[in-house]
Amino acid sequence: MNGEHRLHRVLGPVALASLGVGAIIGTGIFVLIGVAAHDKAGPAVTLSFVLAGLACVFAALCYSEFASMAPVAGSAYTYAYATLGELFAWIIGWDLILEYAVASATVAHGWSHYFQDFIGIFGLHLPAIFSRAPLDFDPATGALVLTGSMFDLPAVLISLGVTVVLVKGIRESAGFNTAMVIVKVAIVLLVIVLGSRYIRPENWQPFAPFGFSGLSVFGKTVLGEAGPGGAPVGVLAGAAMIFFAYIGFDSISTHAEEARNPQRDVPLGIIASLIVCTVLYIAMSAVITGMIPYHRINIDAPVSDAFRQVGLGWAQFLVSLGAITGITSVLLVMMLSQPRIFLAMARDGLLPKSFFGAVHDKFRTPWKSTILTGVFVAVLGAFLPLRMLAELVNIGTLFAFVIVCAAVLIMRRIHPEAERPFRAPFVPFVPIAGILTCLVLMFSLPAENWWRLIVWLAIGFSIYFFYGRHHSILAKHQD
Ligand code: ALA
Repeated sequence: MNGEHRLHRVLGPVALASLGVGAIIGTGIFVLIGVAAHDKAGPAVTLSFVLAGLACVFAALCYSEFASMAPVAGSAYTYAYATLGELFAWIIGWDLILEYAVASATVAHGWSHYFQDFIGIFGLHLPAIFSRAPLDFDPATGALVLTGSMFDLPAVLISLGVTVVLVKGIRESAGFNTAMVIVKVAIVLLVIVLGSRYIRPENWQPFAPFGFSGLSVFGKTVLGEAGPGGAPVGVLAGAAMIFFAYIGFDSISTHAEEARNPQRDVPLGIIASLIVCTVLYIAMSAVITGMIPYHRINIDAPVSDAFRQVGLGWAQFLVSLGAITGITSVLLVMMLSQPRIFLAMARDGLLPKSFFGAVHDKFRTPWKSTILTGVFVAVLGAFLPLRMLAELVNIGTLFAFVIVCAAVLIMRRIHPEAERPFRAPFVPFVPIAGILTCLVLMFSLPAENWWRLIVWLAIGFSIYFFYGRHHSILAKHQD
């Protein structure tokens, strides 16, 4: 690997954990909690947060083991490359585009919701044609309908704005990120402390109006009820949706190469940031569902709207502003991570190195792929509905987690002697539990997501067989 493709080592443990929290708390807790409580789980969405958190803890322990073994950029892609070989690595790298780039588009939508909520406090409204994606789900039927809008303008503007910051460099963006993380954690604490004074326990009754399960196998409901459009509803279905709120802890591992002491600090950062967020989420979801009857929870900007509904306009203002800031930091980390995965793939020859491996002379950032990511995020964020994007991200990320957990099991068997500065505890229980919980959540998503995932992977396979396989470093060594 030559110097020109190297990144700077500037991140310490606190900066890494704060990148983690920066990537985690965002559109999931501030926006998707609304749909999950309103349409999928009711007040039992708190249990959905517990379940999704549990699946993530299992996956995080497995991620940490790998992160300590292969402390280079690229996240699960690199671990798969080192353990399962090139084809598997390609599959997971391709799949991670769902986790990072498509997630960024989802997050940009969430940003747009709060931006519009915020300007609405001052009586300002965007022209309807620029306010949302042209298609969205009709909550009554579950079908896609035209919204009358052309595209989501704020989602486009924030994606492009973040792209500019990222092209300039990680040192600035990490500092910027830490400041935003402080603001967002403060807002989450404000919601919990202030909101808890407005809890009316009767709002928690009935606790699980949609039931405790919600599992379907390719469109056939096997546990619980089916909601509008045949999609599963219940606590599990809620967990499959708010799983999005946890995505991002693994992005820390994409920064291993910029960490000063990656083998110690990356596992620490992953686990610490996930635990902090899980505790905050459980508390926050209990507070929001205690403040407002679940069927009156707003689905666009549920957290700030809860304060509006209890008559605290000033808190609505602060929460809305805090959500905008917090969601920006998620975008920043997600869009920072995607180009680093491309960089790792380009180094292995699976993507054109001249484009995806290019590091800017002055800024030392992977600038070309950062710009490509920014444009992709802006286009998806402009035109596709938030829920569709979120579900696609969830199924893709859950699939990546399944592979990471399986890879830990395989590595322990085929390379038991390899040095593991961090070892996942209770193997094989933890990886097996990770695989099973993630699979259950995959099946709790509306069935069409499986087909979308399959189409996405098929596109990835075609690229691999037409490009990657012929250009890869491994193929060259075999010649
Ligand atoms: N977990 C991140 C969010 O909720 C992706 O915005």
